[in-house]
Amino acid sequence: MTRADAAVTLRGVSRVYGRGAAAVRAVNDVTVEFPRGGWTAVMGPSGSGKSTLLHCAAGLERVDSGQVLLGDTDLTAARDRELTALRRTRIGFVFQSFNLIGSLTAAQNVALPLRLAGRRPRGSEVRETLAAVGLADRARHRPRELSGGQQQRVAIARAMVTRPDVLFADEPTGALDSSAARTVLDLMRQMADAGQSIVMVTHDPAAAARADAVIFLRDGRVVDRLTGAGPREVADRLAGWEAAR
Ligand SMILES: Nc1ncnc2c1ncn2[C@@H]1O[C@H](COP(=O)(O)OP(=O)(O)OP(=O)(O)O)[C@@H](O)[C@H]1O
Ligand SMILES: [Mg+2]
Repeated sequence: MTRADAAVTLRGVSRVYGRGAAAVRAVNDVTVEFPRGGWTAVMGPSGSGKSTLLHCAAGLERVDSGQVLLGDTDLTAARDRELTALRRTRIGFVFQSFNLIGSLTAAQNVALPLRLAGRRPRGSEVRETLAAVGLADRARHRPRELSGGQQQRVAIARAMVTRPDVLFADEPTGALDSSAARTVLDLMRQMADAGQSIVMVTHDPAAAARADAVIFLRDGRVVDRLTGAGPREVADRLAGWEAAR
């Protein structure tokens, strides 16, 4: 894969928490490419570094060594202001807990990234983005008036309204029942089929199997990779790495 085909490239990335004897190498010398227009799932045992890897790849957290490239843009070389601007315009992030602002309507939540980027949101782009996640008729609802699945779809709309190069999602279905999870995964599949690059952490083999590829982390390292695998194969591989010592 050439760099132009990669939405995000990590080269020898490490992230260490704490110092001395207490130091935890949460991400340990990871080199990986997330393909443009592809959906990659990240799996691994609890504490294996999945969230840390995602935060480093999305420029939410600085790395201690190595390089993170968004397309050809070196996030590790970017100054704080530049990194903030990149995060607001070229990166979307979705959390397990939705993180919507409770006092704002769905439409206002979706418009927020545009406002933060210094733009006056057009009503039509907010409406279209909500329509794209199937919530055209919920624009004036506040988060507490929406189901969990609907709140997560608002969060996805908020992440997508700036048309980011990459959508990152950390356990986006972790707080949802299976039917709401399926709706969210159907939406992400549709987005990936339309060419959106997606990197998603999940504990759920059925969710990971909806992606194009799955990478497995263990102790901060990428130890395995599957493409085109079904839920059963993903579950078996995950169990293997959880049992390994
Ligand atoms: N802010 C922090 N300060 C200190 N240690 C941290 C911090 N964040 C994470 N860690 C440690 O880094 C390691 C990786 O954590 P991380 O949250 O990336 O794991 P994870 O794979 O996302 O786990 P989970 O599946 O439970 O969400 C863990 O050992 C964790 O305790
Ligand atoms: Mg995590």
